[in-house]
Amino acid sequence: MRIIRCKNYDEVSEVAARIVAAQVTMKPDCVLGLPTGSTPLGMYSRLIQKNKENKIDFSNVTTFNLDEYFPISRSNNQSYYYFMFENFFNHININKENIHIPNGETTDPEAECASYEAAIEAAGGIDLQVLGIGQNGHIGFNEPGDFLESTTHITTLTQSTIAANSRFFESIDDVPKKALTSGMGTILKSKKIIILASGKAKSEAVKSLLSGKITTQNPSTMLNLHKDVTLIADEDALL
Ligand code: GLP
Repeated sequence: MRIIRCKNYDEVSEVAARIVAAQVTMKPDCVLGLPTGSTPLGMYSRLIQKNKENKIDFSNVTTFNLDEYFPISRSNNQSYYYFMFENFFNHININKENIHIPNGETTDPEAECASYEAAIEAAGGIDLQVLGIGQNGHIGFNEPGDFLESTTHITTLTQSTIAANSRFFESIDDVPKKALTSGMGTILKSKKIIILASGKAKSEAVKSLLSGKITTQNPSTMLNLHKDVTLIADEDALL
């Protein structure tokens, strides 16, 4: 795993935005895998800026988001659908038909997951997958456990993730208990992966990611099986 050590969050965001911009310049019709969470916000705002300055063109880019709460309405301002449009898609020249986000409104989650996995395959797979990391090492919503699912699936969130994400909801009871998420196999099929980490709260998960040991108790450690992963982390996350 390649490690890019950054001074702070701004540098993490800048490096990540440059890597995404380089990918889109090299392959204008590339497929991007995208995350939500607080960490990628700085990267998204820089990509929006580059798009406004005509330094990056998203018109032929296809995107697949990693995950979505379930059940959740797309108009709920805590849905990842809402998050992505609000923080990124509404501000760039992407063709809205090329945007894919697991549908948290579905009445048939198993069918939704199967068709999402098939859509990634049909698009030719993900060229560049951008990831964040949960405090417990979760990736997308692949939570620590005795086993990990390979493909896109419905999952139950751990108490620690519900607690960590409750900061965005009015109360902890409003946090959905389930989610739809790309599997670790889906993610590992990506041609290239970057993972962003910032802040002390991520340092334990990052330490385990870098230990070289692979465990289902920290899903991010599975990334050690991939040949092209870059961790972009600030000094606090690398403590
Ligand atoms: C959420 C998302 C993950 C994200 C993680 C960390 O649970 N499902 O994809 O990486 O939280 O979020 P943050 O960047 O806000 O710490």
